[in-house]
Amino acid sequence: MSAQQLAAEPTGIPGLVLFRLPVHGDNRGWFKENWQREKMVAAGLPDFGPVQNNISFNDAVGTTRGIHAEPWDKFISVASGRVFGAWVDLREGDSFGKVFTAELDPATAIFVPRGVGNAYQTLAPNTAYTYLVNDHWRPDAAYTFLNLADETAAIDWPIPLDSAELSDKDRAHPRLQQVAPIPPQRTLVLGANGQLGRALRRVLPTAHFVGRAELDLADPASIDGWDWRSYDTVINAAAYTKVDEAETAQGRRDAWAANVTGVAALVKACTTHRSTLVHVSSDYVFDGTEAVHTENEPFSPLGVYGQTKAAGDALVATVPAHYIVRTSWVIGEGNNFVRVMASLADRGVNPSVVADQIGRLTFTDDLALGILHLIRSAAPYGTYNLTGDGGPRSWADYARAIFTARGADPARITPITTAEYTAGKPTAPRPLGSVLDLGKISATGFNAGTVDGRIAEYAAGLSQQ
Ligand SMILES: NC(=O)c1ccc[n+]([C@@H]2O[C@H](COP(=O)([O-])OP(=O)(O)OC[C@H]3O[C@@H](n4cnc5c(N)ncnc54)[C@H](OP(=O)(O)O)[C@@H]3O)[C@@H](O)[C@H]2O)c1
Repeated sequence: MSAQQLAAEPTGIPGLVLFRLPVHGDNRGWFKENWQREKMVAAGLPDFGPVQNNISFNDAVGTTRGIHAEPWDKFISVASGRVFGAWVDLREGDSFGKVFTAELDPATAIFVPRGVGNAYQTLAPNTAYTYLVNDHWRPDAAYTFLNLADETAAIDWPIPLDSAELSDKDRAHPRLQQVAPIPPQRTLVLGANGQLGRALRRVLPTAHFVGRAELDLADPASIDGWDWRSYDTVINAAAYTKVDEAETAQGRRDAWAANVTGVAALVKACTTHRSTLVHVSSDYVFDGTEAVHTENEPFSPLGVYGQTKAAGDALVATVPAHYIVRTSWVIGEGNNFVRVMASLADRGVNPSVVADQIGRLTFTDDLALGILHLIRSAAPYGTYNLTGDGGPRSWADYARAIFTARGADPARITPITTAEYTAGKPTAPRPLGSVLDLGKISATGFNAGTVDGRIAEYAAGLSQQ
């Protein structure tokens, strides 16, 4: 007897996927690969990372269990016998209350995403119903229940429920009107009070924002002790960002603790809980000798901060679902370069500004929108450069644009070299070339727009400094 091909079939409920399994029979009985990650993922099964296998054995025909939605994904089949399965979407959204039914035998399996209610009725004696789940069962796990006899779901049970074998608990479950739809998992944002964190608050109002006081990257115990189960996405906007202080004895330790050891703990948590990790990288992972940096350029950091950011990136790249968003010259709320130059312009100060570092500014609002775009558009995982667009400029060029926007004479800026600017100061080495190639993120449909117009508008809009 030739076995059917492995195949996935949609069901009308988002994420609920029926699988046809090849079952090889001969004179001795049959054999099947009940779960085979490589082939099944290729066929359309999410790479859902099972950690527990359960079997429920049912003596009698008509044994009926459900309807239970559990806080994990399930992959269900039967090892012997046959069941009538019924699934009801209990997740918030348009599909709430939608029903799918199918018979499962050893040649059929179904992937049930978390939040979809699951029930079955045995159609043969001695039915062994088996399922893999991607979290360990725990007594405090939150289940959502629906009554098997719910009139809205109106499941057409092959064996009427009044002559079926049910538990008292299952008889007592609520009707659909009484069921609170299961909300989607949340997004967690670390670094809530930083420049990027504050911009992310504007575009992700329902996310859970935490600052260092709640979740300290430099304290792995604080990460280990966090409940990561309720998040499907983690955005790490936190980092040790004091570039010059990172070169000191204490700064070196602090930078490594937050940007590497802390990120390693975050990587472990996101990998274990299958969350998408969004992490923010820097032009400082390069020595700046290339005129334009692509995402594939090998790391060549000059200073401690850049070294820790590069090490963090290497760790984050091991998370199956990750976005590393590499940016440069970030302008957000607070005492940023534009504000400083506007203030100097207004106060009649004539500054010397570095003219041999070339790059592009990035407004945090654009960075936040770009991060949202990658997540929402389900762009392929990986590293993406994300900065403002337009002709690369030096800090002195930007300073002149800011002076002009403030109605001050741009000739008041004296261009100097990085070597002149840092002479005699305890500063970190800086890459001279910080221009990041934007082709990859543009191809996904995102462009932050040119900096020149934005900088003029932003600088002109600042109140008198
Ligand atoms: N700023 C730039 O020009 C630039 C350029 C390229 C890349 N980046 C990257 O962009 C990301 C966002 O930077 P940003 O400009 O928004 O930086 P930021 O304003 O300095 O914000 C960083 C945030 O991280 C927090 N933080 C520091 N150590 C922490 C720890 N151990 N645990 C938890 N939180 C901690 C800080 O909190 P405290 O205030 O309590 O220290 C701060 O709120 C970072 O990954 C940075 O490396 C920045």
